[in-house]
Amino acid sequence: MTTHPHLRLSTMNLQILPDIDELAERAAGLFARSLRDAVADRGRFLVALSGGTTPRPVYERLAREPYGDVLGWKGTSIYFGDERMVPCDSSESNYRMACVALLDRVDIPPWNVHRIEGEIVVAEAAQRYDDDLRRLAADQQCPVPRFDLILLGLGPDGHTASLFPGTDALENVEDRAAPVSLPDSSQGLEHARDRVTMTYPVINAARHVVFLVAGNDKGAALARVQEGDGSAPAARVRPIDGDLTWLVVRTA
Ligand code: 6PG
Repeated sequence: MTTHPHLRLSTMNLQILPDIDELAERAAGLFARSLRDAVADRGRFLVALSGGTTPRPVYERLAREPYGDVLGWKGTSIYFGDERMVPCDSSESNYRMACVALLDRVDIPPWNVHRIEGEIVVAEAAQRYDDDLRRLAADQQCPVPRFDLILLGLGPDGHTASLFPGTDALENVEDRAAPVSLPDSSQGLEHARDRVTMTYPVINAARHVVFLVAGNDKGAALARVQEGDGSAPAARVRPIDGDLTWLVVRTA
């Protein structure tokens, strides 16, 4: 096990919450504050949403009062941490989940939603998303796009976004987005073998990264992250000049 003391979770903001409702409430509050600060300071809010199941109640909470119609949704640009290579109307699509839970229910201009095209060939989808992220970086006059907030999840094998153990994307520091083809041993296969993921340079450039973790199968992965075990991909999320918050539902 490779341990990086500087990565130890114990030096980061870890909040243990009693249930998923409290996690949704806490995450929605963080999201709202980040949105308001970004719009006030820079005139827009750049956020990358996580896929999976844990974030859904967070998105549903943001679509309800007091957030639904009072936040600066018009100044919000939505990106995604990753996407499964499925049609955008598939029940497996991270984009579809976000639309049903939030994006179709608040006043975000459609041209501000930057989905990953899950319906095309994975290499082309990754290239187009990489181009999109590079356009954002150029607009910011930065080498790497700097998001105000990136939401992430944690898989039982320690993956986050689609940065899975044993994949080339883990070592990809050149691209802003990368194609992923999961190895047969992967725990992500129940959804889709092929995915597109943001790479570490983009994630670690964020002003604030918030992990949303629930499920009784995450304890071992969380312990590995807390120990700074670099073989757990989530342990390598360490914003260079930003905050890192872990919102974790205490398992029974
Ligand atoms: C995905 C997600 C993935 C997810 C974790 C946790 O596309 O599946 O990006 O990284 O966040 O697997 O998923 P749950 O929240 O469903 O446990």
